[in-house]
Amino acid sequence: MMTQMQILTGIITISDRAARGEYDDLGGPALRKAAESGGWRVLAEAVVPDETREIQRAIREHIGKGCQLVLTTGGTGVALRDVTPEAVRAIAVRELPGFGEAMRRESMKITPNAILSRNLAAVVEKSLVICLPGKPGGAVECLGFVADAIPHCIEVLQEVPTSC
Ligand code: MTE
Repeated sequence: MMTQMQILTGIITISDRAARGEYDDLGGPALRKAAESGGWRVLAEAVVPDETREIQRAIREHIGKGCQLVLTTGGTGVALRDVTPEAVRAIAVRELPGFGEAMRRESMKITPNAILSRNLAAVVEKSLVICLPGKPGGAVECLGFVADAIPHCIEVLQEVPTSC
């Protein structure tokens, strides 16, 4: 992931079982490692259950701490408890469909289950929220597919003068 900008990043693992301590959160640490490898600075991390209000509160808390980018992992599938897309859309200024399209397109080269992913990106306040699959490998893969578009998106959202 070749990015120069030090993007202030928050990470949220969305999983009933991880939130209950039934298994270790591996997705959050995997995303932290990927973010830091791209020179980004992780300001906040959280593990929350698959509950709309908890997801929304965690996103707003991360943005309140200064996160320009919030990465969520989990809850983007077809299970009835998967509510991440609905939770994010309900507080978003707008959705950025190109991110979900790119993540599914590239993921379909890896797994036919990519079709099941409702992952997406949206703008909440002035921050970029990207919702990734719950599997640690899938989350890091999908982040990699869209990482190069993130710096410019953040510049525009944060109203940094840009070249285009
Ligand atoms: N995309 C990538 N790149 N790698 C993966 O392993 N998992 C798929 C899909 N997209 C996956 C992926 C599966 S099995 C599901 S159910 C959906 O993401 C949603 O995953 P989630 O319910 O863990 O969010």
